[in-house]
Amino acid sequence: MSTTPLDETPMLRISVYGTGYLGATHAVAMAELGFQVMGVDTDVHKVEALAAGKVPFYEPGLPELLEKQLATGRLHFSADLAAAAAWGDVHFICVGTPQQKTSHAANLSYVESAVSTVARNLTKDALIVGKSTVPVGTAAGLRTLVAQLAPAGVDVELVWNPEFLREGKAVNDTLHPDRIVVGGASERAQATMRQVYATPIAEGTPVVMTDLPTSELVKVSANAFLATKISFINAIAAVCEAADADVTVLADALGHDVRIGRQFLDAGLGFGGGCLPKDIRALMHRATELGAHRAAALLQQVDEINMGQRAAVIDLALEACGGSVLNRRIGVLGAAFKPETDDVRDSPALNVAAALHLRGAQVTVFDPQAGDTARKSFPTLSYATSIEEAVEGSDVLLVLTEWSQFVDAHPEKLASLANVARVIDARGKLIPAEWRSAGWQFRGLGRAAA
Ligand code: UGA
Repeated sequence: MSTTPLDETPMLRISVYGTGYLGATHAVAMAELGFQVMGVDTDVHKVEALAAGKVPFYEPGLPELLEKQLATGRLHFSADLAAAAAWGDVHFICVGTPQQKTSHAANLSYVESAVSTVARNLTKDALIVGKSTVPVGTAAGLRTLVAQLAPAGVDVELVWNPEFLREGKAVNDTLHPDRIVVGGASERAQATMRQVYATPIAEGTPVVMTDLPTSELVKVSANAFLATKISFINAIAAVCEAADADVTVLADALGHDVRIGRQFLDAGLGFGGGCLPKDIRALMHRATELGAHRAAALLQQVDEINMGQRAAVIDLALEACGGSVLNRRIGVLGAAFKPETDDVRDSPALNVAAALHLRGAQVTVFDPQAGDTARKSFPTLSYATSIEEAVEGSDVLLVLTEWSQFVDAHPEKLASLANVARVIDARGKLIPAEWRSAGWQFRGLGRAAA
């Protein structure tokens, strides 16, 4: 077995398990930082696509960087987990931790399986780095697993290094993170992590070295705080609406207070996606298990307010159509859970579109990137290929994801296409006066009705 300390290895070999939004971006970014990288996935189609320079999802900037790194010869993709485990020095675990089907808890089977495979197939000293979002206490259990499975004579350590990247901004967030958190690292592992992140550290990115449970909790607490901020402004939006105040102006005014900040104060349809909803639920579940009932109760409220926003938009659509949407044509702009992604996991936009379809409306959805992913999840909705096609003949138009092309659309041109020029802005990004002067009846969450 090698006895070379990892921090003295001339060029670290980095393997990355899981090539979804997190892992694919991480693998490409590690190559960009100059390392030899092996991206690994059990899904052969994903591996083949990435090896051929194709990113199997929409992420701005990633295809260009993938192509650049494949050309350097530093970046490879493989479906052979065992071979990657034997090859690498540092093993990043980037597999998903979706919500379990039968409870709010996180499904840890993919993480456990990846860590087990790596541990079993090590042939030299190694560092396993967990990046997946896990409930507090998971990493300690994984350490036991690694100790049981790693071959005798191999010195292996497991640390946690949560990821804070946002979809749509994943490349920049990975190359220039706003903090690097590492949990449970020995001095040697700390040195290796500093070697891996030498470039962002040199740029001034702060490093927080801490214990395993704190590192696990930093990640879910960050997402829980962001979710709480969104639900706070959505609760205030309801007060604004009842009092004829404007929540968008209110949010701008709040945002000038540096203690509060303007980000994540956009009132509207609320949060969705593959992270915030499942992470607050997993934290709720874990907090309850640990007896921290107040945290669980707070997050329950956050979740309820958030889901209530979807119901509020459905109600506005029903009201706009005189109480029933049966056989009404509804144009929907937006399917992705936010702009600059094709991800429709727990998308509030699709949720609303599907609910109105179930009530008998003819719903036509347009999204600049998420049409294909949306069709796979909701094949019974109609999909348009342009804004105009979605607006054509509509009795009410819903703006459910704030893609810039929707925000910049010309209300005069669109008014002539609609059957009834009636718009519901569920993301607070349209300018009511412009739409009203173009002849539209305008409703927005947290804004005066007239
Ligand atoms: C989120 C976090 O922002 C990342 O830091 C984290 O790394 C990631 O989850 C993760 O755990 O992997 P992401 O899911 O890409 O990132 O999306 P966000 O940009 O956080 O947006 C989440 C949702 O909140 C979207 O549906 C968005 O429309 C909604 N949102 C956001 C609002 O409703 N209002 C706002 O003011 C901001």
